[in-house]
Amino acid sequence: MAPGNWKRRQFLQSAALASLAASWPSVVFAERKFQPIADKGFKPDVEIELVARRETVSLKPGPATRVFRYHATLRKGPPSTLVPMPGYLGPTLNFVQGQKVRIIFHNQLPEPTIAHWHGLHVPQVMDGHPMYAIAQGQQYIYEYEIRNPAGTNWYHSHTHEMTATQVYQGLAGLLTITDEQEQKLALPGGEYDLPIVIQDRNFTADNQLQYLQRGMHERMVGFLGDTIVVNGQIKPVIPVKTRAYRLRFFNGSNSRIYKLGWKDGTPLTVIGTDGTLLEKPETYPYIMLAPAERVECWVDFSGREPGTDLMLYSLEFKGAVPRMGGGRRGGGGMRRHGMPQGAVFPVVKFHIAEKVSESPGLPENLTPFHRLTEKDVSDPAREIPIALSMRRMSPQLNGLSFEMLKVVDAERIPVNTIQKIRIYHDGHGMRGGRGGPGGARGGRGGMGMTMPHPIHLHGEQFQILSRIMRDQNTSDYDTVKKGFINSGRKDTVLVMPGEEVTILKPFNDYTGLYLYHCHNLEHEDMGMMRNFLVS
Ligand code: C2O
Ligand code: CU
Repeated sequence: MAPGNWKRRQFLQSAALASLAASWPSVVFAERKFQPIADKGFKPDVEIELVARRETVSLKPGPATRVFRYHATLRKGPPSTLVPMPGYLGPTLNFVQGQKVRIIFHNQLPEPTIAHWHGLHVPQVMDGHPMYAIAQGQQYIYEYEIRNPAGTNWYHSHTHEMTATQVYQGLAGLLTITDEQEQKLALPGGEYDLPIVIQDRNFTADNQLQYLQRGMHERMVGFLGDTIVVNGQIKPVIPVKTRAYRLRFFNGSNSRIYKLGWKDGTPLTVIGTDGTLLEKPETYPYIMLAPAERVECWVDFSGREPGTDLMLYSLEFKGAVPRMGGGRRGGGGMRRHGMPQGAVFPVVKFHIAEKVSESPGLPENLTPFHRLTEKDVSDPAREIPIALSMRRMSPQLNGLSFEMLKVVDAERIPVNTIQKIRIYHDGHGMRGGRGGPGGARGGRGGMGMTMPHPIHLHGEQFQILSRIMRDQNTSDYDTVKKGFINSGRKDTVLVMPGEEVTILKPFNDYTGLYLYHCHNLEHEDMGMMRNFLVS
């Protein structure tokens, strides 16, 4: 075992946790009711055995590929709860709002792991915080009620410093929720409701997954593969009929950002974003989809000629290359690998296979939506900063790196409040010398790098209040700005270089540690993650 792994394992041992617990305010550990056995009082509507294990799958002609994979067995609940996905993806978990769900998670991997339900509003002990990672052979029992509204979420590994490698090797799957409101809409269902999970990978000559070469550029940019994998398949062709579909796009890549658009410029109709439907359908010329983000589209193939193909692209965009704080592009001497961020390439091909005459109409209204405003903020005098920086080659939040159980004052949040949170690049948009709570120093022209960061907050979904470009040079921004979906509820927001995004986020119901981090998984594992302590 590599020394790094050994250290990590040591950390995960209960003895280490116990000594940390001793130095930690009781509020967190009162919450930390670790349950090695199921709670007898919990009456699940759905019970699933979920195993993380090694498998070999056939992804390319030739030798099979060794992957990590979630495998599930339904013990109780409607058969539609589990839908297998091809390739290395875990099965899609389909839940209904109000259901009580028990997931018995087994680790059969030769390393620690823990599963997180990205987008779900669940108690801290059910959230898959890395402090709960279990060793090989152990199990973790999740029990929670589905409180989220209808939407597309996902689940993935959240293991300390190993999230990137474990997700890369396959530990991810979709998780959908339906509710009464959504069922009334009669959106395209069954074979007309399709997940489009987009990831990128590199393969060795013998078809094995190849991860980063440890160069400086790779560490900063994250992993960018040269092979696009959709729904666990390389160069997939999706046969469709001449009618409307609900396509659930999900970016499951470690670091790659997609600018999704049809080659012929046909606009995209968006009906949902991270985890919820929109109030009304909206039209976009293209969609920016950062790691962990989801977007649901209404795609109507009516009027297309049977036998023809339609290619969805990732279109070219700029502003994704790390840039020195002074505004110069730091391109010189950096070795590229895979397809660069912002390159143009095909993502998935739809083949018009069959002509049908019936197609449902797009509903005018989707779901009622209460827009939060500044008036809803619990403490108007308070604004929580999330300053993004890339100093000394280390990506940080508020000048701090991840600490498993510690918070600073700015990270303490009273439960059942709505907070205003400003996410900005340290060195861009610093107003009046306001620094982060960790003492991060701003100022233009510093040595910090700016690059895009998809920022994710655990717990309840937030709303985007404003999005401001603070950089003088906005020409790069012009290549992306029409593709952001700022309405509806989100749990991940892409913050482009020079951009400042203010969000309003409720912290309701549950107390404890809730993570916030960059969902560029390489950044996350390098420490671009912190906790909020809700109490
Ligand atoms: Cu998708 Cu903290 O994770
Ligand atoms: Cu980042």
